Amino acid sequence: MKSGIRKAALVALSGLLLLIALLGGVFFLLGGVKARRPGEWETAAMGRAKRWILVGDKSTQNPMPATKENIAMGQQNFSHYCFACHGLDGQNTGVPFAESMSPPVPSLASADVQAYTDGQLHWIISNGLWLTGMPASKGILSDDEMWSLVLYIRNLPPAGSLGEPAMYSGESVLEP
Ligand code: HEC
Repeated sequence: MKSGIRKAALVALSGLLLLIALLGGVFFLLGGVKARRPGEWETAAMGRAKRWILVGDKSTQNPMPATKENIAMGQQNFSHYCFACHGLDGQNTGVPFAESMSPPVPSLASADVQAYTDGQLHWIISNGLWLTGMPASKGILSDDEMWSLVLYIRNLPPAGSLGEPAMYSGESVLEP
């Protein structure tokens, strides 16, 4: 009889210990996830692979021919909507916070970005990238404007050749 009670107490105790261990594990996991910067997730190969699956319109073709005029139009649009984070050259020139954003702003000339298809670049511009600083342009830019941006991304000028965005180099646009 006595040993039965002791046995029950033992079972209860080991059950309690197991519960504490499990809770500890859960808290450890949560703490671990919280402590990780999203940048580490995003720059990881896993993040790339995930995004490769996430980003749609892989086989959509750019309906806009890569003429000088269309690329120039893309550059114009880029210097209105995108330069604040990507620099005028799409390669972060003069953007002071590009590295410290989480994830950081990539050079659009990089192999990683150029590996996207035209349709995917258009999709990224239209939808933005979830949980990153990359905004969605749907409803703000026309489809033509987005396709011209894709043309510009495919034909970026040499890094630094367009200078820095004036607003970051201390020259106020508002000054007379
Ligand atoms: C508010 C800052 C910001 C603006 C404005 C912005 N972007 Fe981005 N962009 C980002 C960030 C941050 C990333 C990195 C996202 C990532 O790595 O997941 C990014 C990534 C990209 C990528 C690459 C996607 C990848 O997987 O690396 C392309 C292409 C791009 N932007 C194009 C544009 C175009 C075109 C515009 C203008 C219509 C624009 N961006 C405007 C912040 C911005």
